[in-house]
Amino acid sequence: APHFAYCDGELWVEGLRVADLAREHGTPLFVYSVAAMRAAVAAYQRGLQGRDALICYAMKANSTLAILEVFARAGCGFDIVSGGELERALRAGAAPERIVFSGVGKTRAEMRRALQVGIGCFNVESRAELDVLDAVARELGVRAPVSLRVNPDVDAQTHPYISTGLKGNKFGIAHDEALDAYRHAASLSGLSVVGIDCHIGSQITSIGPYLDALDRVLDLVEAIEAAGIPLHHLDLGGGLGIEYHGEQPPAADALWQAMLARLDARGHGRRRLLLEPGRSLVGNAGICVTQVLYTKPGAAKNFLIVDAAMNDLPRPAMYEAWHAIAPVRPRADVPARTWDVVGPVCESGDWLGRDRELAAQPGDLLAVGSAGAYCMSMASHYNTRGKAAEVLVSGARAQLIRARETVADLWRQERALALD
Ligand code: LLP
Repeated sequence: APHFAYCDGELWVEGLRVADLAREHGTPLFVYSVAAMRAAVAAYQRGLQGRDALICYAMKANSTLAILEVFARAGCGFDIVSGGELERALRAGAAPERIVFSGVGKTRAEMRRALQVGIGCFNVESRAELDVLDAVARELGVRAPVSLRVNPDVDAQTHPYISTGLKGNKFGIAHDEALDAYRHAASLSGLSVVGIDCHIGSQITSIGPYLDALDRVLDLVEAIEAAGIPLHHLDLGGGLGIEYHGEQPPAADALWQAMLARLDARGHGRRRLLLEPGRSLVGNAGICVTQVLYTKPGAAKNFLIVDAAMNDLPRPAMYEAWHAIAPVRPRADVPARTWDVVGPVCESGDWLGRDRELAAQPGDLLAVGSAGAYCMSMASHYNTRGKAAEVLVSGARAQLIRARETVADLWRQERALALD
């Protein structure tokens, strides 16, 4: 079902006009569809039907509290990577035992807090981290549930900045060191080995790398269990891509049917599964609405200057990512031209789209597509620009879930000069 669609000459999100939301809340404005998020979760649930599986939403993709609540209510747990994300998940009502904690640099304080609230699993990324976690758990008189993140050394065939499962990446424990690391983990009295995990990258658009990684992980599972260390769950990470511009990623249910078939074929079909999808649950559930400020035609390039910028939508600047840019009210009264759509920030890298064919005038609203994941959660305050507002739509109802930041919000932690 199209949750963002044109009707009567303008863009709608579910049962509301995008232009009405922009008028009420101003721009730049992130607008999310609850139905789109629920449909994305449902695709995973369909693919995993009848299995013992937990979808842990990777909240780094979008960690706004109300978004987390949508996923918690849909039955998801959470994949977190910091103490801050832990507090957000708890605040959104997450059950602690449904939280897994990933990341290469967990601090002792973060470990302590996660142990105190009783999270489900620590995804440990190095031997050194095993020893620190063991010490912190023993100090608290508890056992930390752990899974080792193994690096299966497969190519996810995605952008190098978001590929994580290769030998040259900082993530995970190398495949050939994993068995030894498991033996070490099993010998530590502050730890209880519960699983194994891997995550090979993000925006993956084919099934092949997933099956390769699964085979590599299952080889390890068999070796680890043969060494007398039982593994309760298999966490297969996130990474499923979405369509930004013509990509054709597998649907979540198709991917998981293929994965389950491979698991069954290798005799691991009854094992508990954990997943950590982020982008594929929210990416296409959000748009960013921006207003055209100026048109600046030129000899080499025509620029359409809009009020959203790289601080709101960092993906083009960071990864040369392509996001659709479409008029909220398409118009035929001005000629279309080829524009570079750019923001007000003082950097040449501050562009949202290049060489886009658009008919637009100052005052017009544009919708930047696929803006649900890794946009607001990576937003910054560069150029003393407050973060945008966020609105959630369900049917014909809208709710402001993040108010636009004011300049007072931005300098709240700062102090006037007191030295001479
Ligand atoms: N699990 C772990 C351990 C991860 O590191 C990540 C993402 C995920 C799960 C979720 O992956 P997803 O399903 O969202 O692909 N900022 C980049 C993406 C960075 C992804 C980092 N890790 C972007 O905007 O493309």
